[in-house]
Amino acid sequence: MSFQLDRVGVIHGAIHDPGAGHRALRSVSLAARRGERLAIIGPSGAGKTSLLRVLATSIRPTEGRVTVLDRNPWQLTGSELKRLRSRIGAIHQAPPIPPRQRVITAVIAGRLGQWPWWKSALSLFYPADIAGPRDQLARLDLADRLFDRCDRLSGGQLQRVGVARVLYQAPELLLADEPVSAMDPALADLSISQLHSEAATRGVTLVASLHVVDVALRWFPRIVGVRAGEVVFDLPAVKVSDGVLRDLYASETGTLPTQDNQPFHPTPADVHDASQFKVVAPPRVI
Ligand SMILES: Nc1ncnc2c1ncn2[C@@H]1O[C@H](COP(=O)(O)OP(=O)(O)O)[C@@H](O)[C@H]1O
Ligand SMILES: [Mg+2]
Repeated sequence: MSFQLDRVGVIHGAIHDPGAGHRALRSVSLAARRGERLAIIGPSGAGKTSLLRVLATSIRPTEGRVTVLDRNPWQLTGSELKRLRSRIGAIHQAPPIPPRQRVITAVIAGRLGQWPWWKSALSLFYPADIAGPRDQLARLDLADRLFDRCDRLSGGQLQRVGVARVLYQAPELLLADEPVSAMDPALADLSISQLHSEAATRGVTLVASLHVVDVALRWFPRIVGVRAGEVVFDLPAVKVSDGVLRDLYASETGTLPTQDNQPFHPTPADVHDASQFKVVAPPRVI
């Protein structure tokens, strides 16, 4: 098992004031084997980010049991937990990158958890590796921005830096929270294809939350629907019908959320089919 959640509940803010907390997850049970690729979909506020943060071991659930990469993170010592976290890669919707940081430093940060402290500290001043970060950025068509400052990049370019960082980290469990929300459709497809090819070639488990349904169905073989903090379905992409999606997004406006805001009805051609799995060719490294 890559991870297993048993009846996990999360109440934000409950530690300081148990009565006043805000419930984000309710009795969530979910597991994935190594190498599985699943998308978490659902309306805003459904609990997608909270679920990914539980898997990333960045929040401790209020109830239930968590196993990630065969460990219970909340029974580990500080250094064991640090080692476990270095095996988990997280892509944030708005990557937490200090504004003046250079792109190369932001990508190298992916490995800081794996390096001894002196190498990590030194790499903030003298990049410990240039070819590695450049190769990962090239997969995302960003190799020419290696030495740019992050605050000169657009939101979509920053998201691609976040993807390059996690590819450079080479984790065993890859968690992506709305990783392409600020990208145009072509770059979103390029970025997701690189995450999939990484997952396929190294046997990495990939879990991505996506607000838009078309990208989820096109790329992911397994779809988990979350609403109001609960898993409401867990289905192969081919079984996710228009009706299932309409129930999931019932509280939103009439149309299903899609990447380019076009009306969407899943047809067999939109839906992931493992036999047709294509990886967009990475851009040429110059
Ligand atoms: N740090 C927090 N403190 C209080 N409430 C929170 C916090 N983070 C999320 N929530 C609430 O928990 C619910 C689930 O949020 P979230 O996991 O971010 O959902 P999603 O990613 O699907 O939009 C929402 O109602 C949100 O307002
Ligand atoms: Mg979210």
